[in-house]
Amino acid sequence: MKRAVTISVNGVSHATGVEPRTLLVHFLREHLNLTGTHVGCDTSNCGACTVWLDGMAVKSCTVLAVQADGSEVTTIEGVSANGELHPMQRAFHETHGLQCGYCTPGMVMAAIKLLEANPDPSDAEIRRGLEGNLCRCTGYENIVAAVRAAASGVTV
Ligand code: FES
Ligand code: FES
Repeated sequence: MKRAVTISVNGVSHATGVEPRTLLVHFLREHLNLTGTHVGCDTSNCGACTVWLDGMAVKSCTVLAVQADGSEVTTIEGVSANGELHPMQRAFHETHGLQCGYCTPGMVMAAIKLLEANPDPSDAEIRRGLEGNLCRCTGYENIVAAVRAAASGVTV
């Protein structure tokens, strides 16, 4: 039996029915076709599924779609404006903060919130702030460099 939900995603309201067991990440990917939010583990370890729920970075594989009823969700598709990359996306691009790119949407979503909370983080604070997001490719050095670049505004 489906439950009625109304969830705003990237500024667009979606009133629909979902099965109570539907995870937010599956709602985004399969119901709304917003496939920029990735599934890396489904067990809340990797952070590839990170989105913003009412302004907070959350792992969308740990949230049921029915729990997001009445909430505002922002996905990686919602952080760019008018076809322009977000400064954090540009920083990842310019400092080579990605290889396969699988972790990147979640990293970017988490990193933007990290800088909102701490606009001038040390490298150690960047690493600690992103410890819930795993990358199997980069060794993290250029991810830290990307966040540092975004913080200093060199790519803005
Ligand atoms: S898919 Fe959500 S934390 Fe890995
Ligand atoms: S760039 Fe491949 S997992 Fe991070």
